[in-house]
Amino acid sequence: MPSRKFIIPPPDNVIDGRAIAALIQRELAQRVAELKKRGTVPGLAFVRVGDDAASKVYVGRKEKACAELGILSETHVLPEKTSEAELLALLGKLNADPRLHGILVQAPLPKQIREPVVYATVLPQKDVDGFHPVNVGKLMLGDTTGFRPCTPAGIVELLVRSNVKTEGAEVVVLGRGNIVGKPMAAMLCQKGPGANATVTICHSATRDIAAHCRRADILIAALGVAEFVKAEMVKPGAVVIDVGVNRVEGKLIGDVDFASVLKVAGKITPNPGGVGPMTIAMLMQNTVRAAEKSLN
Ligand code: GUN
Repeated sequence: MPSRKFIIPPPDNVIDGRAIAALIQRELAQRVAELKKRGTVPGLAFVRVGDDAASKVYVGRKEKACAELGILSETHVLPEKTSEAELLALLGKLNADPRLHGILVQAPLPKQIREPVVYATVLPQKDVDGFHPVNVGKLMLGDTTGFRPCTPAGIVELLVRSNVKTEGAEVVVLGRGNIVGKPMAAMLCQKGPGANATVTICHSATRDIAAHCRRADILIAALGVAEFVKAEMVKPGAVVIDVGVNRVEGKLIGDVDFASVLKVAGKITPNPGGVGPMTIAMLMQNTVRAAEKSLN
């Protein structure tokens, strides 16, 4: 007997992140095959420090995507007590290893390790996370030769492939983090296709967040508060993107109250199955690109 979820199709305003990510992975498989013909296997190193449960799951998913695409991957797991100097020494070795085109140090890191120092140590040409100051700077400058952070890049791709018009749109980004909020705003306000939007960033000191949300044609929730966005904060027909991953009583809950917002949104990402798979697809894309660039 098929389960109910296959009998009742999802509402057509739900953006299927898994399907779009699968399409991108098929495109990437061709590029990996081309690279192999030229004698290069893309290589990606993961570094995980400590026992953060979510990080274990995320790195596991990224390793699986590498295996499916024929990207060589290796994972270095370091103990919670690792010093910053020890981590930097490992990164020095990975930077120098010609088999590796990308390096990803999974955040969060233990408190004795300064994340900005770590991300500035990964060579910019191996920084498939897009966190090195050179790549952050290139993003701000609209220089497309750098690597863009995977989650916001995945959201742009979701919008473009779902035919959401960003040109002239009012975008409200909830959250100003370095991984999603800030780079998201930088990408969408650039001049060019899939961008050209008017962007507002809201954060913990913003007065009347709900009023900002209600103006948005595209609302991107990346603030890390479970089910923060309610139906009454959403303009009817708006596109709502849920980036949140909040653990509440052992369950993972997004930043959007999906059941109620679904009824007013023009389009909405499910969670899981929306942004998450796109983050991984963009990491694979950055890694394939890093390998391609290494040959030029
Ligand atoms: N932790 C949460 N998201 C990310 C990401 O995109 N990259 C890394 N390195 N760590 C993360």
